[in-house]
Amino acid sequence: MRVGVLTGGGDCPGLNAVIRAVVRKGVKVHGNEFVGYRDGWKGPLEGLTMELGIAEVRGILPRGGTILGSSRTNPFKIEGGVEQIKENLARDGVDALVAIGGEDTLGVATKLADLGVNVVGVPKTIDNDLSGTDFTFGFDTAVNIATEAIDRLHTTAESHHRVLVVEVMGRHAGWIALHSGIAGGANIVLLPEFPFDIEEVCALVESRFESRFSPILVVAEGAMPTEGGDMSLKTGELDAFGHVRLGGIGDRLASEIEQRTGKEARAVVLGHIQRGGTPTAFDRWLATRFGLQAIDAVADGDFGTMMALRGTDIVRVPLIEGTGELKLVSAKEYAEAQVFFG
Ligand code: F6P
Repeated sequence: MRVGVLTGGGDCPGLNAVIRAVVRKGVKVHGNEFVGYRDGWKGPLEGLTMELGIAEVRGILPRGGTILGSSRTNPFKIEGGVEQIKENLARDGVDALVAIGGEDTLGVATKLADLGVNVVGVPKTIDNDLSGTDFTFGFDTAVNIATEAIDRLHTTAESHHRVLVVEVMGRHAGWIALHSGIAGGANIVLLPEFPFDIEEVCALVESRFESRFSPILVVAEGAMPTEGGDMSLKTGELDAFGHVRLGGIGDRLASEIEQRTGKEARAVVLGHIQRGGTPTAFDRWLATRFGLQAIDAVADGDFGTMMALRGTDIVRVPLIEGTGELKLVSAKEYAEAQVFFG
């Protein structure tokens, strides 16, 4: 069988480990040939291919990013896009596709599977917000990077008697904030799932100073104040300490805390650092096992499925289970962490 492989959406540590496992097992066990599609769905859409065999996947296991490149192209948003993909797959002699991606990439895979394209999905996102799987690869690496940053920021917070606000990724789900906040001993963790009360946050900051220690707050980029909770400083304004505020939630929160408590506060935005570089051993292990199972699913003709971690097993679930609804932090999980707040 001739198999196409693509990676879509934001890059994520472990993508190369999946590609390597798919290709190695595909060639060695199932006798597959491969076509690498470049830049996500843009590849099969525009016919952008590259060689993909044992030689191409040699040495890529510990490398971040993706040798195939990525994009957020969605063929369903382009007129004639789906027909074009079908034509190109036929022209390239591709019998089946392995699509590695998050909500958007696998959403496309789900719809294509419904239209008769032979596709299996591998769930990827540092945000860990795909349903159907206990964990996505990339998440562990992101949490480790954020935890190391929090560990390092404790000393600056304490030496300078400052509040430190660490903004981590997570537009819709606060998994990175919650896990790194617990692992790094943060004093407050704010998530998109639960709007925060700025007065309560400031009260926790002040009580933390009373106990001599300086507070570290971890805030997910999608966290929001409760409605009516006034965060008064606007992007570009100078705060009480003369800092120009840039506008992300971390920065806005730091300004607001300074204004309300009179304590100096700084924001650190980790941004894409969380997605870059070498994957942890756990992510390499998970990504590799997803890849091995994905190429077995292709060999079995088990299309329209997504690989998923359940406990310690890798299982196949319908693609729609991963792309239907996002997996969010529950109130119970958030409450568990709150014993450490303040
Ligand atoms: O991979 C998901 C994610 O990390 C989100 O948490 C974040 O909002 C987004 O990617 C940003 O990605 P980009 O800057 O590449 O659009």
